[in-house]
Amino acid sequence: MKGILLAGGSGTRLAPMTQVVSKQLLPLYDKPLVYYPLSTLMLAGIREILVIATPRDLPLFQALLGDGSGWGLRLDYVAQAKPEGLAQAFVLGRDFVGRDAVTLALGDNLFFGAGFGGQLRQVAARVATSGGATIFGYRVRDPERYGVAEVGPDGRVRSIEEKPARPKSSLAVTGLYCYDNRVLDIARDLKKSARGEYEITDVNAAYLALGALHLETLQRGMAWLDTGTVAALQDAARFVEAIESRQGMKIGCPEEVAYRMGFIDAAQLQRLAEPLATSEYGAYLRRVAAEAP
Ligand code: DAU
Repeated sequence: MKGILLAGGSGTRLAPMTQVVSKQLLPLYDKPLVYYPLSTLMLAGIREILVIATPRDLPLFQALLGDGSGWGLRLDYVAQAKPEGLAQAFVLGRDFVGRDAVTLALGDNLFFGAGFGGQLRQVAARVATSGGATIFGYRVRDPERYGVAEVGPDGRVRSIEEKPARPKSSLAVTGLYCYDNRVLDIARDLKKSARGEYEITDVNAAYLALGALHLETLQRGMAWLDTGTVAALQDAARFVEAIESRQGMKIGCPEEVAYRMGFIDAAQLQRLAEPLATSEYGAYLRRVAAEAP
């Protein structure tokens, strides 16, 4: 299973904060926003990840994340010239994905909750071995802002729509998508939508038509936060602050995930902490390295 981290887009809704830097590089409480979805892919057990960003911001992502080897990863990079839609990730990522299955994580989505890593690893294993597509649904108060899935009493997806004026359910489709290799051809053959984008919802609708779309519901104990507006970004930062200061454990810390997933050992984690020694983040890494994984 390969991973794609989509971190392009114009970020206009967060201007002027995004005037000179990408939204996914802005801080979300104590770390760059992109650390959260990167940690999500890592929790799924994925170690080969393609980062997609704008031509302007790509060098900054490379400076921040490097080739990933320090975190036990292999990171590749490709620029998206124009933000023409989420499904373009699979056109830009075609060579990178090769013959594998692939999970797409949107660079501005944050997931947190007990058991989530295990759930993700199960889904990734199922899609890699049995094929099909799996999306994750989460109940929200304002589904019209998202892709919306309608699920029948048998638990199967009946319909999927992008930002419908009259949503058929409260189940938003979150920014994490797991596909078999057919996604490459499905995305290549898409037409642009009325709003001029290659829509991920059209990819999901294609899998639905094939009878191969599976929806996993994220339970109420899970947090799924997006950062599309200034208020949402602040809410997400407050959420992370509240949990981290209560528990003394970090959310979305890739170094820690790499250690706990067995991608790196305690000595490697110690080394990662050294250049960060004067920050609270570095002290945290040192503390984690001293514990059993
Ligand atoms: O967050 C989940 C939602 O994400 C889904 O429910 C929707 O079905 C899906 O279309 C998407 O909706 P958004 O309105 O949130 O998409 P947005 O255009 O904001 O793009 C999401 C992220 O992807 C954002 O960080 C920018 C990045 N992006 C977006 C586009 C259109 C790219 O990197 N390239 C692009 O071409």
